[in-house]
Amino acid sequence: KTITVLPPGTVANMVCGFDVLGFALHEPCDEIDITLIDEKRIIIQPDPVYHLPTDPEKNVAGAALLAMLDAMDEPIGFDITIRKHIKPGSGIGSSAASAAGAVVGANMLLNNRFSKEELVQFAMFGEKVASGVKHADNIAPCIYGGITLIRSIFPLDVVALPAPDLFVSIVHPQIEVRTADARAILKQTVLLKNAIKQWGNIAGLVAGILKNDHALIGRSLEDHIIEPVRSILIPGFDELKQRCMAAGALGGGISGSGPSVFMLSSTKGKAEAIATEMQSVFNRLGIDNHTYVTSI
Ligand code: HSE
Repeated sequence: KTITVLPPGTVANMVCGFDVLGFALHEPCDEIDITLIDEKRIIIQPDPVYHLPTDPEKNVAGAALLAMLDAMDEPIGFDITIRKHIKPGSGIGSSAASAAGAVVGANMLLNNRFSKEELVQFAMFGEKVASGVKHADNIAPCIYGGITLIRSIFPLDVVALPAPDLFVSIVHPQIEVRTADARAILKQTVLLKNAIKQWGNIAGLVAGILKNDHALIGRSLEDHIIEPVRSILIPGFDELKQRCMAAGALGGGISGSGPSVFMLSSTKGKAEAIATEMQSVFNRLGIDNHTYVTSI
């Protein structure tokens, strides 16, 4: 029996919530075909476009499925084919979609034996292969949908939040920012005055989400800790942000560890105008880019 799952792209961090907040997009989605086999092994079919590793231990979906097999006694395994529509390295949760999609699909073939929290645990092994560290702010929204708060990873505590009716504009400039590098440049200490602003914003953002208060969400989309360091990796970032705000964005910032940048807005019309601004900033800089207009 083969089933197909469509794991969505995700935006991690949501500006102020580094490693703790993330949301799922309606599109783009990957397509993963999964077949149950009667041998305890994982087979990854070759990917003709991105040539991702087929060794299960080096493949993000493979590593996630191996973690799942470790939790079972039966002689069963999975054969998977992944068609990537979320570009690897784009910053909208490409590796998380492979890892989360694989374990969600496998779990469906097992009649939903595992809970969502267990699936997040398995999929985090894939994220570790991709970026060297376990974090769940792409995996959790990919599995739960909507917006998720990862209150804690050890022990895992995921809080699913309602999705406010917001539109999302995303630009993916064709520059390379590796998650491991974007984490390595971060400072290990934080000034108390910045920490105070940051937790004020995170609390404001969560309150805004719960109240569907777009103005409060917009005011809270500020990052005094990560963005000042990482934005130097994205040419034109400050101008991009200013122009998006002038075009009606509520706020936004780097998607995950970049290089994609996202903006939230209240109407589809604004989201489209913002995407046009995004495109024109990178076109003028001579950087190829791709934009998406979607919703949470
Ligand atoms: N929270 C992670 C980071 C997401 O910003 O490094 C990257 O996938």
